[in-house]
Amino acid sequence: MPEIRFYSGENIPLELHKVRIVQKLDLVPVERRAEAIEEAGYNTFLLKNKDIYLDMLTDSGVNAMSDRQLAAMMVADDSYAGSSTYTRLTDKLTEIFGTEYFLPAHQGRAAENIIAMTFVQKGSIIPMNYHFTTTKAHITRLGGYVEELVVDEGVKVESDCPFKGNFDLERLEKLLKENHDRIPFMRIEAGTNLIGGQPLSLENIEMAADIAHRYGVLTVMDASLLQDNLYFIKTREEKAKDLSLREITRRISGKMDIIYFSGRKLGFARGGGISIHSKELYLKMRELVPMFEGFLTYGGMSVREMEAMAVGLDETMDMDVISQGPLFIKYMTDELMKRGVPVVTPAGGLGCHLDAMRFIPHVKQEEYPAGALAAAVFIAGGLRGMERGTISEQREEDGSEHLAAVELLRLALPRRVFTLSQVKYAVDRISWLYDNRSLVGGLRFVEEPSSLRFFFGRLEPVSDWPQKLVEAFRRDFSDSL
Ligand code: F0G
Repeated sequence: MPEIRFYSGENIPLELHKVRIVQKLDLVPVERRAEAIEEAGYNTFLLKNKDIYLDMLTDSGVNAMSDRQLAAMMVADDSYAGSSTYTRLTDKLTEIFGTEYFLPAHQGRAAENIIAMTFVQKGSIIPMNYHFTTTKAHITRLGGYVEELVVDEGVKVESDCPFKGNFDLERLEKLLKENHDRIPFMRIEAGTNLIGGQPLSLENIEMAADIAHRYGVLTVMDASLLQDNLYFIKTREEKAKDLSLREITRRISGKMDIIYFSGRKLGFARGGGISIHSKELYLKMRELVPMFEGFLTYGGMSVREMEAMAVGLDETMDMDVISQGPLFIKYMTDELMKRGVPVVTPAGGLGCHLDAMRFIPHVKQEEYPAGALAAAVFIAGGLRGMERGTISEQREEDGSEHLAAVELLRLALPRRVFTLSQVKYAVDRISWLYDNRSLVGGLRFVEEPSSLRFFFGRLEPVSDWPQKLVEAFRRDFSDSL
């Protein structure tokens, strides 16, 4: 998908696809939106879809599928064992990654469970550029530690660093030198999730992997967001600009011992799995698949999704396909910046991220600025985002609040799902909210589960600010939803 210069001078991300199946959406009035978020305990996870206009909660399992993917689903082979669907998917992974073996799993975190159960012991250290929630949970559950080694720039909200997901190679080398006997593998998340979909460079991936191998440590890649990372390597890295996407992918996979992914993101379907070069590593993990997932040739996935994934992986090697997400995110980020709205820069993959600490600096962190902003953005436009701040953290053992390093509202852009006018609408309502930001107040818990509180917790506003926001909206949009 190219960025096309219009006669007007504007650069527009022009869709290289047409929409052939649509799903009806509702845009309910602002009064109903305020009621709905109250019913949901001011937690966007608990909203009902009928009240939502643009669902920007996640890019997981909600990407648009192509006509070729849907067609492939019709020829799936659902034999319990020896399914030719499994063979087709494995062959596609071999073609793309050069890996010989594939272990299917029902989604990304199930692959993480298998890898962690095989390699992590009490006291293990797992270095990684940045953690993801489910990854860390599997490692710490088994008594291991996560050591994050992302470059300093990675956690700065505002930056012009093109590869904020890179490893700090000096720290990596030091850790491996001192502790390699406690490190069963290092994990490379390409691209990152929690720091704003930020990529690593090809050079950094190769150097990090070489360091690990020098100390006899296995390299494991979380490739869930690899499609976005490939786009950024191709467009931002001088040394990769003449390489094809397939060549870049092979350069990366050649340095990895194990590649796992969520097929809800990579491959535009649902499911997941682990691709492996060596038979020895494959055999080490294999028995966990029938024990926890399903038989070896489906691993808990629907065979239809596996067929769609094989085609989706093939389409991931097409720049017209994988550029849509990052270009729409860049468009949204740039338009918000033009209106002064604080966002994470540079624009990454997965979604556009609002910086709640700068958006509503008057809301103190103990009153959850990212959560409050998520509720306010929903009231302003029926847009559902995901809180990525203190609510997503766990309290300390003594019950005190663990304040997050950053308070972000993630507005995911599922791939090829929204149109540009919908993105423009989102930008418009967010900039309206920014102009009325002084009205937004904080939240407090009324029901707080002891774990995963961001999924199920219920909150309330600390004042009647949602009502004030509705009144301001009505003054400005007397005749519009
Ligand atoms: N790794 C990364 C980088 C992810 O983004 C995710 C999921 C997983 C692993 C787990 O995969 O969901 O298939 O089990 N991210 C989703 C999100 C949940 O909304 O960002 P899964």
